[in-house]
Amino acid sequence: MSNLRNSNQYRLGDRAVRRLGYGAMQLAGKGVFGPPKDRQEAVLVLREAVESGVNHIDTSDFYGPHITNEIIKEALHPYNDDLVIVTKIGAIRGEDASWNPAFSKEELTRAVHDNLRNLGLEVIEVVNLRAMFDVHGPAEGSLEEPLEVLADLQRQGLVRHIGLSNVTAKQIDDARKITDIVCVQNQYNLAHRGDDALIDQLAEQGTAYVPFFPLGGFSPLQSSTLSDVAACMEATPMQVALAWLLKRAPNILLIPGTSSRAHLRENLGVAAIELSDEVMSELNGMAA
Ligand SMILES: NC(=O)c1ccc[n+]([C@@H]2O[C@H](COP(=O)([O-])OP(=O)(O)OC[C@H]3O[C@@H](n4cnc5c(N)ncnc54)[C@H](OP(=O)(O)O)[C@@H]3O)[C@@H](O)[C@H]2O)c1
Repeated sequence: MSNLRNSNQYRLGDRAVRRLGYGAMQLAGKGVFGPPKDRQEAVLVLREAVESGVNHIDTSDFYGPHITNEIIKEALHPYNDDLVIVTKIGAIRGEDASWNPAFSKEELTRAVHDNLRNLGLEVIEVVNLRAMFDVHGPAEGSLEEPLEVLADLQRQGLVRHIGLSNVTAKQIDDARKITDIVCVQNQYNLAHRGDDALIDQLAEQGTAYVPFFPLGGFSPLQSSTLSDVAACMEATPMQVALAWLLKRAPNILLIPGTSSRAHLRENLGVAAIELSDEVMSELNGMAA
């Protein structure tokens, strides 16, 4: 079992978390909808993650919906003091498994209460507001109204910190006029590097950047460069993809998702992998 206890940490709100965390989205059923094929394995994945030293778990009540949070509660409640659970709100699932915007005051308030209840928490450490102007990627649009609602829920003591997901640099700047933003969660990986400049800017500001789809998401990364580098290093392509992210910038926090303990072990094993500058530039060529 890997041991992350000596691995690097980074600030998330007023806590420090290990840079290798875990994303819980894969614990729901196919299409992130309905129950998983193997609920017991899902419970065991979460327990092994935390036993291995993971203290940052990313989730949402719209995974399932509700199911992923219920499994987290079953597996880990009462939670270790050092565990930071981050959730996200702003979407609601249709009966056909579609992802729809849910930005009204009523929907946002309900989403925070649903997360609190299903996770068994009295306060959520970090809530990300997930922009839905374009479900597939950042698109301009005002987040002022939903952020005011979230900031109010924060003042009520239900939410400790606020982050943003699927957002542009302008939306982050605008949001900071309303409340502190402690993290940004956008799609980013070796092959999808639209946020390069934003990551560097957030690193200068000391803000955590949490890439979703770090392994490529629903279609895991495939590239001969990645496979060749991995073979030379006696690592797996997925480990190299994660090691690249860890070295890419100090403010990157990883939340790879998996429904299997075998993949979890592989992913956490990246803590022992160090990429040379030469390998980094070879991998950097992949995006071009
Ligand atoms: N803010 C947002 O809009 C947003 C969107 C998507 C995701 N997220 C968050 O980001 C987290 C990470 O994203 P993700 O889980 O969608 O994608 P990901 O981490 O890029 O990849 C997960 C996929 O890779 C597979 N996988 C994991 N480890 C592997 C390994 N070692 N070898 C081979 N395959 C492996 C998983 O399958 P197995 O289950 O078989 O391992 C799954 O199909 C999510 O869990 C969620 O918390 C946020």
